[in-house]
Amino acid sequence: MKIYVLGAGSIGSLFGALLTRAGNDVTLIGREEHVRAIEENGLHISGIEDFTVYPKATLHAPPDPPELLMLSTKSYSTREALECARNSIGPETWVLSIQNGLGNEELALRFTSNVMGGVTTNGAMLVEWGHVRWTGKGITVIGRYPTGRDPFVDEVAEVFNSSGLETHVTENVNGWKWAKAIVNSVINGLGTVLEVRNGFLKDDPHLEGISVDIAREGCIVAQQLGVQFEVHPLELLWDTIERTRENYNSTLQDIKRGKRTEVDYIHGKIVEYAQSVGLEAPRNELLWTLIKAKETLASREGFKRKK
Ligand SMILES: NC(=O)c1ccc[n+]([C@@H]2O[C@H](COP(=O)([O-])OP(=O)(O)OC[C@H]3O[C@@H](n4cnc5c(N)ncnc54)[C@H](OP(=O)(O)O)[C@@H]3O)[C@@H](O)[C@H]2O)c1
Repeated sequence: MKIYVLGAGSIGSLFGALLTRAGNDVTLIGREEHVRAIEENGLHISGIEDFTVYPKATLHAPPDPPELLMLSTKSYSTREALECARNSIGPETWVLSIQNGLGNEELALRFTSNVMGGVTTNGAMLVEWGHVRWTGKGITVIGRYPTGRDPFVDEVAEVFNSSGLETHVTENVNGWKWAKAIVNSVINGLGTVLEVRNGFLKDDPHLEGISVDIAREGCIVAQQLGVQFEVHPLELLWDTIERTRENYNSTLQDIKRGKRTEVDYIHGKIVEYAQSVGLEAPRNELLWTLIKAKETLASREGFKRKK
């Protein structure tokens, strides 16, 4: 399959590497240092598996359209990335977002009606340019966005599965996107404010009630919007915490590195969707505000260190 990975950082490079190894025609679209390293020495994957592949790598999406364009930028970069890749989205091209947060697929729908959503529990981390560590083997769920079926979704799942990426097809990917956003609203929200590993949220007796309240708030908004869940977000929450108990969540990691976080697309979107159906989401709003403040503080600290 001819595949472009738009936003080849940690997770995009991992998917791109596995798809390349399985013989797909993959082009990684990423930043200059990463592209140069891949051109010079290939893309090295370590961790769960150790191998090097030599995919095409470029700064801009080539104009000839692929069958599949995978979106793997952070959510705050989606709009600009899609604008830049506009000419690569042909009438037969499908766009698949494997990003966290809400709203990415809606943006993709402005460019084509062939949109797939996805959630993945694989973990990846850019160690250095040209080298990504596969930190955790997980599963991926994909489906036509917002709901429904299409034979091409099954084709993509087959390609992913035969590349070593365990992938399942759903007719309700919107439900999965919401469930993951709700899980992230708790783990990334409380875990970042408290600066703790994920496991603490389950182990501390004071936190169970507030975790449930935050998750319920998101569920009520989703239900008002007509979203249905295949797996209840609370079940997914405790399972995710258990599987990742030693990890620090990605929002906290971004803050520690002085980077922008994706909270506008997790808590921010839950608040925005709540307002769109006449509801409030005060817990999400509080976490959103606190994390934005932490983001500001971290970038000021980074600025001071640089001076
Ligand atoms: N990493 C994981 O384990 C994991 C797991 C599941 C889901 N996710 C989700 O997947 C998404 C990506 O996460 P990530 O950790 O892979 O992020 P990441 O390492 O920051 O990778 C994104 C890459 O895309 C680049 N980029 C942004 N706009 C671009 C453009 N227009 N053209 C080319 N490159 C562009 C970024 O460069 P700049 O930094 O310079 O903008 C960055 O190198 C997020 O939504 C995340 O929540 C990640």
